[in-house]
Amino acid sequence: MVIYTVTIEDDGSSYRCFESQTLLEGMESLGKKGIPVGCRGGGCGVCKVQVLTGSYTKRVMSREHISESDEAQGCVLACRVRPTSPIDLRVVGAMKKNVCRAVEPSGVPSLST
Ligand code: FES
Repeated sequence: MVIYTVTIEDDGSSYRCFESQTLLEGMESLGKKGIPVGCRGGGCGVCKVQVLTGSYTKRVMSREHISESDEAQGCVLACRVRPTSPIDLRVVGAMKKNVCRAVEPSGVPSLST
């Protein structure tokens, strides 16, 4: 069974992912955090990442979350993608702030309506 290293550029962390697992499953199976987790089925879009380097296979992703222009830039839903090489990625989904706390101001988060 082939295992690839997935590196999350936002926080410099990495984890190992079997080729049979999605990028999200690999991260979760190790009890790691990094990519925001939501529905795990391509429906919510919070696990959206941009693959910077590496190759992968993907299942059909809703245009509601991944536009053609997103796709052209390597954006995918981590719960729909399996690695076929080592992967470097960046979190770009709506919950990116949960990964990139270093760039967030401290204090009470503001609520936007
Ligand atoms: S976790 Fe909801 S789309 Fe991936």
